[in-house]
Amino acid sequence: MSAIGVFDSGVGGLTVAREIIRQLPNENLVYFGDTARVPYGIKSPQTVTRFSIENILFLLKQDVKLICVACNTASSFALPVIKNNFRVPIIGVINPGVREAVYASQNKRIGVIGTKGTIKSRTYETEIKQFDPKVKVTAVACPLFVPFVEEGWLSGEVVLSVARKYLNPLKEAGVDTVILGCTHYPLLKPVIQGILGSQVTLIDSAKQVAFEIKKILASEELLNRGKGGKHKFYVSDNPEWFSSLAQRFMGRKILNVKKVDNNV
Ligand code: DGL
Repeated sequence: MSAIGVFDSGVGGLTVAREIIRQLPNENLVYFGDTARVPYGIKSPQTVTRFSIENILFLLKQDVKLICVACNTASSFALPVIKNNFRVPIIGVINPGVREAVYASQNKRIGVIGTKGTIKSRTYETEIKQFDPKVKVTAVACPLFVPFVEEGWLSGEVVLSVARKYLNPLKEAGVDTVILGCTHYPLLKPVIQGILGSQVTLIDSAKQVAFEIKKILASEELLNRGKGGKHKFYVSDNPEWFSSLAQRFMGRKILNVKKVDNNV
């Protein structure tokens, strides 16, 4: 089964997989969540790059025709280095979000929020400046957002007060557009929007990523002609934990999650 391969450090990439499945219902999809080594957001560029290469090699063994790096941290650190070294197209989540944000911003002040690694890499900033050098970028790491989402804390006073603190620099900078530069952050959209105000556009790149994948597969004549794609889910540890969180990220239950050793 020739499939779209998707990987993430864990469960968060399901927000991207969900959108790919919605826009490309006839495509087979293989998802790999590196749950044995999550989180990537606090690890070094070298480590995240090594993990990403191993994940790609695992997916290539599953007969994939395109790979989506659904993790922002991996897209930031690894993609610029490894992108052209494989026999299939590799799509990250940074570029599609950047394009949408630059297009959406009226005042040319864009905020970016992500893991410590993503923000430290400055990849968003570099790509935004490539699109439009006049844009002023304010980038802030929000490391507590990932555990909040995984614990199911999507509202309440604790989340609100942490979010207010994190988002204050974006308010002060007067951004009119904010990129949700982490797989988990779309689940905190109501909190983030509430703090920044309805005049600020929040960019969740999943839709744009799926659209890009569709475009590439169409132009390379790789779209599946059959009906009803099949979806397989692999993890490197703790399939039960992954399944229990899947409902929140994917909007439906995922059964038959298989544990594999990917770093061989
Ligand atoms: N998937 C990661 C990202 O989008 C967040 C979780 C992690 O730190 O591994 O950056």
